[in-house]
Amino acid sequence: MASINIFSTISHPSPELPAGVRTSRNPIGCYPLRRPRSVPFAGNSSGIPSEKPEIELEFIGPTPGSDGSYPVEKAKAISGEKLMRNIMLDNKIELYATYGKVMNCGGGGSCGTCIVEIVDGTDLLNERTDTELRYLKKKPESWRLACQTIVGNKENSGKVVVQRIPQWKK
Ligand code: FES
Repeated sequence: MASINIFSTISHPSPELPAGVRTSRNPIGCYPLRRPRSVPFAGNSSGIPSEKPEIELEFIGPTPGSDGSYPVEKAKAISGEKLMRNIMLDNKIELYATYGKVMNCGGGGSCGTCIVEIVDGTDLLNERTDTELRYLKKKPESWRLACQTIVGNKENSGKVVVQRIPQWKK
């Protein structure tokens, strides 16, 4: 942890007085200076508390509303800390279609019911895992298993746009 030094007293010879000269104000020819003493503090070396980068997510709904526009739900996540599946469930954003609601594997990567389509921000996600490479081998690059997809890498930030429950999944 970084530290700074406050209020330690040191002696220093007066630059204006010859050696051995004493004054009533300064009887020993030295005067105290205040210097910082070591005090621990939280934060980086510049003293500014560090904040973790965030990823914004937009989830496009599967069907348009009465005005013809698709509903969009938004969420935020600390970069690199959560799986897409958990972000969606935590924010009560629907991930599974009818079959997946009752038959999903709970995030084990074996049912394929948590597929989402990444519309934008692919570079903010982890690479496809071995499970995905097997399961999505002949599928479009934009498809991901939400239970295998880590949102962010702890350092990046930006926006990811996700199509949830696309037409092909219903
Ligand atoms: S929840 Fe089963 S593969 Fe993702």
